[in-house]
Amino acid sequence: MTGDTSRSPVVDRPNVMSERAANTTVLVTGASGTLGSAVVPRLEKEGYRVRPMSRRARPGWVAADLRTGEGLAEAVDGVDVIVHLASAPGRPQQTDVEGSRLLLTEARHAGVRHVLYVSINGIDRVPYRYYQAKLDTEEVVKASGVPYTILRAAQFHPFVETLLALVSKAGPVIIDPKWQVQPVAVDDVADRIADLIAAPPTGETTEYAGPQVLTFDELARSWRAARGSRRPIWRLPFPGGMARAIRAGAQTTTATPTGTGTWPEYLAAKYR
Ligand SMILES: NC(=O)c1ccc[n+]([C@@H]2O[C@H](COP(=O)([O-])OP(=O)(O)OC[C@H]3O[C@@H](n4cnc5c(N)ncnc54)[C@H](OP(=O)(O)O)[C@@H]3O)[C@@H](O)[C@H]2O)c1
Repeated sequence: MTGDTSRSPVVDRPNVMSERAANTTVLVTGASGTLGSAVVPRLEKEGYRVRPMSRRARPGWVAADLRTGEGLAEAVDGVDVIVHLASAPGRPQQTDVEGSRLLLTEARHAGVRHVLYVSINGIDRVPYRYYQAKLDTEEVVKASGVPYTILRAAQFHPFVETLLALVSKAGPVIIDPKWQVQPVAVDDVADRIADLIAAPPTGETTEYAGPQVLTFDELARSWRAARGSRRPIWRLPFPGGMARAIRAGAQTTTATPTGTGTWPEYLAAKYR
């Protein structure tokens, strides 16, 4: 019947997708981290065979260390896709740059067909040691011979909150009020990753951010209000090229799509 033929693409698509996912093994590096903790259940829900990776042995996980290379060959064995999230801002040269080189050398030998590397928006516009290492890691990914997609993401909501807590350690919230960011919900980034690995590798670098550009003045005031805090806010222009670039909006993007989760929603969910 013609009715069957016209209906089949719509009806079959989810089945085809889930069948493809069920036959796809995805290694998630950095699976224990902020983003990894959202990505693993998101991909499991999609039906992928997910192999979370950590330096620490855990049941059902693979143990491997990017810095030493230990366990990486076993980690990539039989893997189709790598979602590469592991990072160590304190030791980025050894872990991010050289560690990714080790991981991707093993991945190429193992025939991995797609690596999705998560990087950070504006790393080519903000002079900062960790960002230089992320840029260098992007180059390692591009030169690896493993088909790739690079997803640069904006600052995650919990990271912005960690920053605000850090600059409040002495009492007042000390901020550069004109710093601009476009924070993004972690679950939105996990969704974007799920979309990107369902498609073939793009060989491109794309940016991704939340729906609103906010200044640190706005962030600090709303954070303080959500926590019912009366801490004073000290506003000063931070010195240096990095601060200047962030004031100029180097970490914001016009890229679409954007995430939908907002900073006020994050605060409301956390402090209701
Ligand atoms: N945080 C943000 O706002 C933000 C924004 C944009 C992009 N990103 C990028 O997104 C990615 C994930 O960020 P995140 O905030 O979720 O990171 P995170 O919470 O700091 O987690 C880092 C992960 O890296 C793993 N790791 C560290 N050293 C390792 C090593 N030597 N070998 C293997 N694994 C190692 C850790 O795993 P174990 O401790 O379990 O081994 C941990 O799961 C990073 O690449 C980051 O640059 C972050």
